[in-house]
Amino acid sequence: MSPAAVTPDAAEVPSFLAVEDLVVDYPTPAGPVRAVDHVSFSVPRGGSLAVVGESGSGKSTIACAIVRLLKPASGRIVLDGTDLATLPERRLRPLRRRVQMVFQDPYGSLAPHLTALEIVAEPLRVAGMTDKTERRRRATGLLDRVGLPATALERRPDEFSGGQRQRIGIARALASEPDLLVCDEATSALDVSVQAQVLDLLRELREETGITYIVIAHHLGVVREISTDVVVLKAGRVVERGRTADVLAAPAEPYTRALRRAALDPTAIRGVKPRTRAASTTAAPQPAEGHAPVTTSPEGTGK
Ligand SMILES: Nc1ncnc2c1ncn2[C@@H]1O[C@H](COP(=O)(O)OP(=O)(O)O)[C@@H](O)[C@H]1O
Ligand SMILES: [Mg+2]
Repeated sequence: MSPAAVTPDAAEVPSFLAVEDLVVDYPTPAGPVRAVDHVSFSVPRGGSLAVVGESGSGKSTIACAIVRLLKPASGRIVLDGTDLATLPERRLRPLRRRVQMVFQDPYGSLAPHLTALEIVAEPLRVAGMTDKTERRRRATGLLDRVGLPATALERRPDEFSGGQRQRIGIARALASEPDLLVCDEATSALDVSVQAQVLDLLRELREETGITYIVIAHHLGVVREISTDVVVLKAGRVVERGRTADVLAAPAEPYTRALRRAALDPTAIRGVKPRTRAASTTAAPQPAEGHAPVTTSPEGTGK
């Protein structure tokens, strides 16, 4: 095993988030189960890193550790110089606002009895914005920014499409003016054309706000437009890493080739109903032997 190097040029590009030698275990009756096994990566301020891997590879566990919904067994999660992994709750509280998560299930993660406006205004209230008119004004602006019409403000989650619900989730995350946004399969429950619209929105927001992203996905295609760098995760470990364009063009691992193939699968492009797709393609990829070799695609001609 190599030591927990972050990136070779870490000295030149200071990382905004550095995950170092992260280990996360879940307690089970049969003893602790290791979900994340000595994972390291880093992102510079304003950068965008993708974490890609099949179902069960540890992606959500890493996301939950970064936002400290889970406490790591060991390792460091250094945000802008502060190690979140070991910080007691009292000192963590002021930092929580700075790291926001967009969840996979845009329905389950929105309070069903609140209107879109109330959902987005709530973090503003928690952050101490006491003036209700001001909260409404700001929430309205955020909902407008993510592309929801003014007529949508008073509607509740079940009156929106999946893509619109995800836009509400993004507006809610932005309400805290976070420095880091962790998107955990934020588009995987959406039809493919809607996925593309939400990914476009995330990309625009990054360009406008300079926010730093961790984008989690279960195949490589989703992240090619939005993340400059990628780490590939398998069974809780990093098996490949690099510039997204390079990894897409020439994946070194058979496992990564399988994740890439899933991205190019025509059924994925046509937009198979997400739940069926989750059931049929998240099983462990087959060994590469039986398949034609993957050739370098033209879009991967980056330097
Ligand atoms: N609450 C839990 N208790 C025990 N094991 C868990 C729990 N949550 C996740 N795991 C296990 O941890 C591993 C990683 O899960 P997860 O981070 O959800 O993967 P992913 O998001 O990549 O699908 C899996 O083997 C999963 O079964
Ligand atoms: Mg997950």
